[in-house]
Amino acid sequence: MKKILNISSLAAPKSGAALLATLLLAVGFIALGFTVPALLQRLVRPIEFISLESKDPRDVHMKNKVLFKPGFKRDVWYMWQGLQDDSSPLDLLAIVVENKTATFFQLDPNKSNVNTGKLVPVPYRASCMSCHSNGPRAMRPKKVVARGMQATFYRLTVALLNIRIKLYGSLENKPYAKDKKTIASFHPLKPSQVYALDLESCIKCHAKGGIRAPLTNEQWWTARHLVSTGSMPPWPYQISSGDKAALLGSGRVTAN
Ligand code: HEC
Ligand code: HEC
Repeated sequence: MKKILNISSLAAPKSGAALLATLLLAVGFIALGFTVPALLQRLVRPIEFISLESKDPRDVHMKNKVLFKPGFKRDVWYMWQGLQDDSSPLDLLAIVVENKTATFFQLDPNKSNVNTGKLVPVPYRASCMSCHSNGPRAMRPKKVVARGMQATFYRLTVALLNIRIKLYGSLENKPYAKDKKTIASFHPLKPSQVYALDLESCIKCHAKGGIRAPLTNEQWWTARHLVSTGSMPPWPYQISSGDKAALLGSGRVTAN
């Protein structure tokens, strides 16, 4: 029988080229051995960035610090949010993803503990559903708060975390409590006032049974923002001129 693989030639390379290839492979493995653990460590530490989308009332971009705590069946995404000059106490927000459901929390930053996972909810200070339609959102930093090598690690981490966020697929969104007041601040519009943003260019993905939950008029402002910055629809998809006019031009998308 013909030998397919000669093990001895792998163990002791004879030609110079083979020796060089083995050496390069070894160097590659060692480099990976250093980078992968460093990256994984980075992944479980908070990353700080100036948000492109979130602004304070003076129109200054907010500073966000995001921490991802993955679990076997339950992931928790934390975000501290504050002004860039650190002049005010930071808000602490969380989204818990479990069983295809995303639960939104505004947390007491002093009583909650991100290390033990203790979540102490307080009333929402913003309507989560006005910007989130499908649990965690991809992070779009205007700028990361770091320099040199650390900034590169931050950007890489953001890219990896964004892949994680996209892989959840369609999620159901829930407030942390079911009382009327909490539900009303989670999404202020009454169910009868909510209608789907049925734009042809978007429903390929944002639809029942699609990869993202349907968009409604509640997310109109953020949809407009993402389209005007060119973030949505993602490349190579394009928005039709009719949909663009409906979303950006008339100021309001009509119910159908
Ligand atoms: C004005 C729009 C807006 C509102 C309102 C809003 N978010 Fe977000 N949120 C964002 C954006 C945009 C991101 C992605 C980070 C970035 O690029 O700034 C984000 C990110 C997050 C993250 C980090 C994980 C992720 O999704 O990337 C958490 C946690 C979070 N939001 C929780 C909440 C909760 C809880 C509420 C309601 C109290 C809320 N958010 C309200 C826009 C908003
Ligand atoms: C090819 C699929 C695809 C198309 C087409 C698409 N989107 Fe998205 N959209 C996504 C994905 C994936 C995300 C989550 C990750 C991100 O933010 O990039 C997202 C996120 C969003 C969000 C943030 C809320 C959320 O679901 O997390 C808005 C708002 C949005 N898209 C608006 C639009 C609009 C408006 C259109 C049409 C003009 C559109 N998208 C077309 C895939 C798509």
